[in-house]
Amino acid sequence: MRICVVGSGYVGLVTGACLADFGMDVVCVDQDEAKVARLHAGRIPIYEPGLATLVSKNAEAGRLSFTTEPGPALESAAAVFIAVGTPPREDGSSDLRYVREVAHAIRGRLNGYKAIVTKSTVPVGTGRMIEEIIGHDRTFSVVSNPEFLREGSAIEDFMRPDRLVIGSRDQRATDIMREIYSPLLARGVPIVVTDVETAEMIKYASNSFLATRISFINEVAELCERTGADVQVVAQGMGLDRRIGSLFLRPGPGFGGSCFPKDTRAMVSMARDAGARAEIVEATLQVNDRVRERMLTKIESVLGDPRGRTVALLGLSFKPNTDDIRESPAMFVLENLLSRGATVRVHDPAAMENARRVRPAAIYCGDQYEAADGADLLVILTEWNQFRALEFDRLRHSLREPRIVDLRNLYEPERVAAAGLAYTSLGRADAAPVNEPRGVPAAPLRGVEAS
Ligand SMILES: NC(=O)c1ccc[n+]([C@@H]2O[C@H](COP(=O)([O-])OP(=O)(O)OC[C@H]3O[C@@H](n4cnc5c(N)ncnc54)[C@H](O)[C@@H]3O)[C@@H](O)[C@H]2O)c1
Repeated sequence: MRICVVGSGYVGLVTGACLADFGMDVVCVDQDEAKVARLHAGRIPIYEPGLATLVSKNAEAGRLSFTTEPGPALESAAAVFIAVGTPPREDGSSDLRYVREVAHAIRGRLNGYKAIVTKSTVPVGTGRMIEEIIGHDRTFSVVSNPEFLREGSAIEDFMRPDRLVIGSRDQRATDIMREIYSPLLARGVPIVVTDVETAEMIKYASNSFLATRISFINEVAELCERTGADVQVVAQGMGLDRRIGSLFLRPGPGFGGSCFPKDTRAMVSMARDAGARAEIVEATLQVNDRVRERMLTKIESVLGDPRGRTVALLGLSFKPNTDDIRESPAMFVLENLLSRGATVRVHDPAAMENARRVRPAAIYCGDQYEAADGADLLVILTEWNQFRALEFDRLRHSLREPRIVDLRNLYEPERVAAAGLAYTSLGRADAAPVNEPRGVPAAPLRGVEAS
């Protein structure tokens, strides 16, 4: 089957490569000429584990190609996947201009029956909007097929999803979707077939619910700090309840990325437009904003006034295994420290190029130890694996003041303290260094709260 995927970003490129791997004949279209030129040169414009291999394998087999010219690809496709961005507007609603552009492009290219599939996250009613743009007299049907992949494990998520959601009004289009996903259906992946509006809503309800869990546990973390409880153990104790489950119950510096902040705001906006309220989601957003501010307060409670101080930040992407810095809490911390007059030394395994483009004033370092060199404080912001095994002895000698603020709770406080570093994390008791650090002048730890 011939497939056209419009938009070759995180979702479009993964979708195109995976569908080609299923044996489909896929053309990926993107209006970004530089991106398509990179793809033609065999270079992948984003960091996503396994994607380069999958793209090159399928491109070499002749099943996957890239173009900026949508015409021929649209005409020859039995299914057109729309995977363009749907960024937030000022008022929180989704900006659908790119989706509309694609719908207009399809309108002039309908030469036979096609399933027009929205993979982009789009508000309820967008399927109808696309139908109106294309025109009711044409032979096509709009299908909603929301994507649930996570950056960093996108291929695995696409190939082994928890479920497929297909929103369709037309059996012919549903059959096309079943054929496309037949390798997954054959493996027993559950499929929810419903109407277009319900499928559109499933995506927003899912992301809003996950974001709510994150804000919830972050609120619990603050409460733990004030009451002397340990959030790690609280989360474990909650998560063992099968009705609750353990995922998305890790305290941190707030949710970020290109989906949760945008999709929760869009959910609130959608509710407003429908004359309803999404009060839980509104609170989720408010808590997230407050958590971000609380992280700055936490850093300052250890560092003191950032002006003239040097801070090492580990991690810039909003989560590990991606180079995506959109709405990253780490970038929020970086921006605030820079604007308050700190010198900021950073390291991230994949996101430095993206971060440098928007924050050239930071000092970009080759690894975590170079970042720590001469810093008054080390802050862990993203839970990359390489930050889970820091050599504390090395850090103690590199840092001007041996102290860590860990906003991902990667370590046991006692272990860090035993290595001679002051340690502050989330939702549990801070730990002061138990040993006088050897070879380091016994400088007073300015601003460290008594633990
Ligand atoms: N990133 C994720 O983890 C994720 C997961 C699930 C769903 N989604 C949703 O998928 C959609 C895409 O997200 P993304 O992260 O891949 O975005 P992205 O910004 O990485 O990619 C979008 C691509 O679309 C291209 N584009 C825009 N208008 C175009 C047009 N008219 N013709 C051709 N190309 C065009 C852009 O040049 C860009 O390359 C969004 O709605 C998002 O909410 C994203």
